Amino acid sequence: MVDVTIVVPILNEKDNIRPLYHSLKKALDQAGFRWEIVFVDDNSQDGTLQEMRGLISEIKDHSVKLIQRIHRFGLSSACVEGIMASHAPFIVVMDVDGQHDETQIPIMYHTIQKKNLDAIVGSRYCDTGSLGELDPHRAFISKTATYLARKIGKVTLTDPMSGFFMIRRSTLESLIARLYSKGFKILLDILLASPSPLKYEEIAYTMRARKFGESKLNSRVILDYLMLLAYHRTHRWIPLDFVLYLFVGCTGAIFHLCVLRIFLQYGSSFIRAQFAATLIAILCNFYLNNKITFFYFRLKGLRVWSGLGTFILVCSIGLAVNLACADYIYKTTSVWWISGGFGFLISGIWNYLCSKTIVWRAKT
Ligand code: GDD
Ligand code: MN
Repeated sequence: MVDVTIVVPILNEKDNIRPLYHSLKKALDQAGFRWEIVFVDDNSQDGTLQEMRGLISEIKDHSVKLIQRIHRFGLSSACVEGIMASHAPFIVVMDVDGQHDETQIPIMYHTIQKKNLDAIVGSRYCDTGSLGELDPHRAFISKTATYLARKIGKVTLTDPMSGFFMIRRSTLESLIARLYSKGFKILLDILLASPSPLKYEEIAYTMRARKFGESKLNSRVILDYLMLLAYHRTHRWIPLDFVLYLFVGCTGAIFHLCVLRIFLQYGSSFIRAQFAATLIAILCNFYLNNKITFFYFRLKGLRVWSGLGTFILVCSIGLAVNLACADYIYKTTSVWWISGGFGFLISGIWNYLCSKTIVWRAKT
């Protein structure tokens, strides 16, 4: 039995593994803890896995474990899997890159027990906490996201974006099925998923500079963050992936109308203009879905072309289904907008399901 499990999500971090292991070992041994570290990797391609296996084979005990995930992505879901595969009554989540202050863990452990808290959160904004040398651009994103979490998510802590916290296992297990589990913000997800406010406290720390490699934060992470807020604010019932797909579909429809208008204005026949507009709308939808909706399964290189071919085929069948349904409903109800809207929705569902399972399925 261990007192504390440290869950560390990792993606392409080969140079950071050993420094983190040694600094954690020092801090946890000094505190007299029985501990384990669970690294959760999303099939890194930079030698991280070899580095991990090398480290594990050198250690004589079972204090370090590795979960290697295939076709699954994202910091939050990696943390959830690491937590579910571990045993300690208290869990710490932290970055591998040395940015989080491991010397705070013993204080966190004693405080969470003494005050019977659900969680204790490392904060860069309370008391003596600071963003350290974080570049101004990142600091701005962090502060804006914090503002939104407090305004929209109605959370009260100073640093809901923190990636460094300790949580009681029993608390987490009671709300695990309510988590969104996508994206970067696992702490905020936990706070918003809880039906009653969690009992927490914050502990100040100064964020250090990343030791090696680079941050995995990208523009998709920002979209994931907004989707996380929307998911919990709508009481977890909206299928957000489908909404995103429909949103992309509507963008395609706007493109379609613009291109149609331009072609007609320059004297093209209607059928040619409609053909060009349809083609451009499909290309636009394919591009945006590849960039946004199915970002984690995005197609690259030659696979783009075979994916585009399949997407065109899928959309053509969707269009035929759309026309057949809309025509049938129009003949029965004579209400144009119900018939048109229903046809659009049916083809949207068809296109979405085929896109997800055929066009952007996990690589095999
Ligand atoms: N398994 C897995 N899968 N790990 C990932 C993934 C992923 O898709 N993306 C990132 N990681 C790992 C990184 O290897 C790192 O250990 C940790 O998750 C955080 O990623 P960073 O790239 O270091 O993010 P950051 O430093 O820009 O932001 C972090 O710190 C902020 C401040 O505490 C994150 O933890 C943020 O959530 C946090 O707000
Ligand atoms: Mn980091």
